Amino acid sequence: MTRDLRDKVAFITGGASGLGLGMAKAFGREGMKVMIADIEQAALTKAVAELRASQVRAEGVLCDVASRGAVREAALKTISAFGKVHVVCNNAGVAAGGPLGTVAERDWDWITEVNLLGVVYGTEVFAPLIESHGEGGHFVNTASMAGMLGIPNMEPYCATKFAVVAMSEGWAAQLAPKNIGVSVLCPGFVQTRIHESHRNKPTRYGGQETVQTGVGDTREQAAAMVMSGIPVEPVANRVVEAIKDNDLYVFTHVEFRAVVEARMRNILAAFDKSATSKALSGLAPRELSTLAQQSQAGRK
Ligand SMILES: NC(=O)c1ccc[n+]([C@@H]2O[C@H](COP(=O)([O-])OP(=O)(O)OC[C@H]3O[C@@H](n4cnc5c(N)ncnc54)[C@H](O)[C@@H]3O)[C@@H](O)[C@H]2O)c1
Repeated sequence: MTRDLRDKVAFITGGASGLGLGMAKAFGREGMKVMIADIEQAALTKAVAELRASQVRAEGVLCDVASRGAVREAALKTISAFGKVHVVCNNAGVAAGGPLGTVAERDWDWITEVNLLGVVYGTEVFAPLIESHGEGGHFVNTASMAGMLGIPNMEPYCATKFAVVAMSEGWAAQLAPKNIGVSVLCPGFVQTRIHESHRNKPTRYGGQETVQTGVGDTREQAAAMVMSGIPVEPVANRVVEAIKDNDLYVFTHVEFRAVVEARMRNILAAFDKSATSKALSGLAPRELSTLAQQSQAGRK
């Protein structure tokens, strides 16, 4: 895609609040048209009005990303409103977690279907639509620092976010020849309502009952931790930079570098240990498989 975003069209899931709305505003400042998709009607109506009040060409569509059919319908509405889509932000996400054995089965279903399958549906539905107009495009998949680090009590969230990172790495290589970039956004805490994501939990997963987030022991602690994060706007502005530069990994909390580095060091140390392992010592030296080489395709 030409990296001039003016007059291009963005589709953003979870666009009615938090990071998604921040991205919509940032894209609007770049002269883009935006379709925000969200499960929460009242927030959606308010967000569209707010965007329009600041001269952004914005539309809203009610959409549960856990439904492939709903994502498909939202895509058709976006095409009928704006003609084409260039940038897709698979951003909608929810939080659930807690000590081992205490996470309700329906919360596992909910978080997996929104955070993981929602990103699958957004990518599978929109990639052919972007490819078909020939102008190129870009996906921004919202993962988290929890997609880089396993964190106790946050296993359901981490599992979905690691998956988003892995899928983004693979899709980046698959889509690069089609002039479609992929970025995976991995923030630490940002001041949003993520700790209150049960507010939009559909009844098929038990409705709006309180959900353990796995962040802190109480709702108050979870709120305090999320609110100790950074504001939305710089994150959204970083996303604009990332699209323009076609960055694969997008970090916003640079203080986490040392933590990620420590994890990588542990992983490398485990390779070193296996290199001198008695159990493996009889094996002949091996070439890297094609699959392993492919995993590096498209890396910068
Ligand atoms: N806030 C943080 O600290 C933080 C850190 C790292 C990653 N993230 C990720 O950022 C993304 C955005 O979350 P946020 O922090 O802005 O939280 P938020 O709760 O403020 O916003 C999330 C939005 O997603 C919508 N949503 C929830 N379920 C949906 C569904 N099934 N279909 C469509 N929309 C749905 C909500 O209505 C809401 O508007 C999430 O993927 C989250 O995991 C957040």
